[in-house]
Amino acid sequence: MRLQGRVTAITGGAQGIGRATGLAFAAEGALVALGDVELDAAQAVAREIGERGGKAIALRVDVGDAGQVQTFVERVVAEFGRLDVMFANAGIAHSAPFLEHPEAQWHRVLRVNLTGVFLCCQAAARQMVKQGGGRIITTASINGFRGVENLVGYNAAKAGVVELTRTMAVELAQHSITVNAIAPAQIDTRLTRSLPEEARRRRVERIPLGRFGEPDDVARAALFLASDDASYITGHTLAVDGGYLAGGLWSGPTGSPPRA
Ligand SMILES: NC(=O)c1ccc[n+]([C@@H]2O[C@H](COP(=O)([O-])OP(=O)(O)OC[C@H]3O[C@@H](n4cnc5c(N)ncnc54)[C@H](O)[C@@H]3O)[C@@H](O)[C@H]2O)c1
Repeated sequence: MRLQGRVTAITGGAQGIGRATGLAFAAEGALVALGDVELDAAQAVAREIGERGGKAIALRVDVGDAGQVQTFVERVVAEFGRLDVMFANAGIAHSAPFLEHPEAQWHRVLRVNLTGVFLCCQAAARQMVKQGGGRIITTASINGFRGVENLVGYNAAKAGVVELTRTMAVELAQHSITVNAIAPAQIDTRLTRSLPEEARRRRVERIPLGRFGEPDDVARAALFLASDDASYITGHTLAVDGGYLAGGLWSGPTGSPPRA
């Protein structure tokens, strides 16, 4: 029970990585607030947690809207009395070649993936300062470190999350708040399931562990960062990527270069 009685908020909690993390946190004794634009799906996860003996609520929040984020944090505190862990995880992607990338999609992705993280972390941190400490975890991506094609807005936002995480870690350390990021790659969620089979196969070729990750792989990393085991870790970005970032000129298990 590594999170016994801790109050945790997870954005993007309706499915994928957020859902898996909600289940993992609750299994370790946490009280879980799942925030998402998809309220019905978030409520289904809250019910699932309840059926397993945990405690969770689902709240509608658009993380790109400062007012809604503030209300989200206030409702979590009203329901559970405090906020110990914020997992700012909600994210979207838009795929288009750089030369054709629509400006509207650039703004849409930056709004959710970067501004949304800023707003959720700031609202949570203000509450945690009052309480004397807390844990913040953000979801970056290996795309914050690599220029993955056709995802310029997404990549720029995720690189921003890495630096936002470092800056928050430095400024919030004096309040006993740690801030760390997770950089996943190729996790089997809705976000990656829309890729054509051939694209999925090519991506797996670039991952030394040779498989897509599961949402649980990321949830366990979030659990570690939220737990007392990580009390002296802050400002770090933890890759949960099957070795992708370590790979450099990795050329696949057969030694032949993966096709671009
Ligand atoms: N799946 C991967 O391979 C992968 C890799 C790197 C990073 N990530 C990141 O992990 C995070 C979770 O993604 P996932 O793979 O679980 O995808 P997902 O699509 O399964 O889940 C994303 C969730 O975010 C919610 N969401 C979207 N916009 C929102 C908004 N404005 N406000 C609140 N909620 C919103 C969605 O409704 C959804 O429930 C994202 O930040 C994503 O960029 C995923």
